[in-house]
Amino acid sequence: MVHFHQEWQRPPAVLSLEANEIHCWVAPLDQPPTILETLAQCLSADERERAAGFYFERHRAQYVAARGILRHLLAYYTRQKPVELRFSYAENGKPALRGNDEVRFNLSHSGDLVLYAFAHCREVGVDLEEVRPLSDLDSLAERSFSPIEVAALHTLPPHQRLSSFFACWARKEAFIKALGNGLSYPLDQFDVSFLPGETTRLLRVLGDPAAPARWQMDALDPAEGYAAALVSDGQGGSLRRWVWDKALIVTG
Ligand SMILES: CC(C)(COP(=O)(O)OP(=O)(O)OC[C@H]1O[C@@H](n2cnc3c(N)ncnc32)[C@H](O)[C@@H]1OP(=O)(O)O)[C@@H](O)C(=O)NCCC(=O)NCCS
Repeated sequence: MVHFHQEWQRPPAVLSLEANEIHCWVAPLDQPPTILETLAQCLSADERERAAGFYFERHRAQYVAARGILRHLLAYYTRQKPVELRFSYAENGKPALRGNDEVRFNLSHSGDLVLYAFAHCREVGVDLEEVRPLSDLDSLAERSFSPIEVAALHTLPPHQRLSSFFACWARKEAFIKALGNGLSYPLDQFDVSFLPGETTRLLRVLGDPAAPARWQMDALDPAEGYAAALVSDGQGGSLRRWVWDKALIVTG
């Protein structure tokens, strides 16, 4: 049973996505069978096919939960039926709503949780990472972080290294997910802040000096043992943090 941090709340009965807002949602990936059955009903043929391709039943169920909840949340924001929603996929796999350029979203799953972000007419990227032991933390950092980030990581005492590693990882991943580039984007070509006590922000993007002023970066802290980040296009976005539960299932 995951306990969400207190800034993450049940939403009010009526919720609207205002122009300056970014709504983040967190949900447990392991849903009870009755909920899963309801969520499965709104999946498209290609999503069912993808679900059927998972080797482990738990992974199949988690995929159904993540996609089903996504559809029910999007249905709420678009006032469509979950089953009616159609997705398109950009070159590197980033999903978007087909025929609706206004509601943008992104999602990430790790451990027992799935995290979503929704915004109006602004691109978003989220990443969630379960903080897990890593025997090869230094070599992973060398391969995935910029030289400035690797140097910053080395200034930390051992007990702060693991959580800071995942804070950095989530922020970098959220940035490339906001861009939609996936791993085609060179991870060593931009720097993020991540040291304890530092303000969360994109520090520098090689070849794009305007990027740090353009992209808003926020650390999210949904639950103990997880690192998460949100990157959104444009500064001044106001974050709302919500916890999903079955009462949010759109009926009719
Ligand atoms: C696909 C990728 C965008 C994220 O993958 P990931 O971290 O394994 O998975 P997450 O759970 O965070 O995100 C997966 C979701 O992102 C979305 N997504 C897929 N491709 C995407 C893209 N190019 N851009 C943004 N979002 C994307 C999808 O909704 C996907 O969910 P799905 O399983 O329902 O299709 C890609 O960046 C990747 O493979 N990363 C590998 C991790 C890595 O080496 N990171 C280094 C960071 S320092």
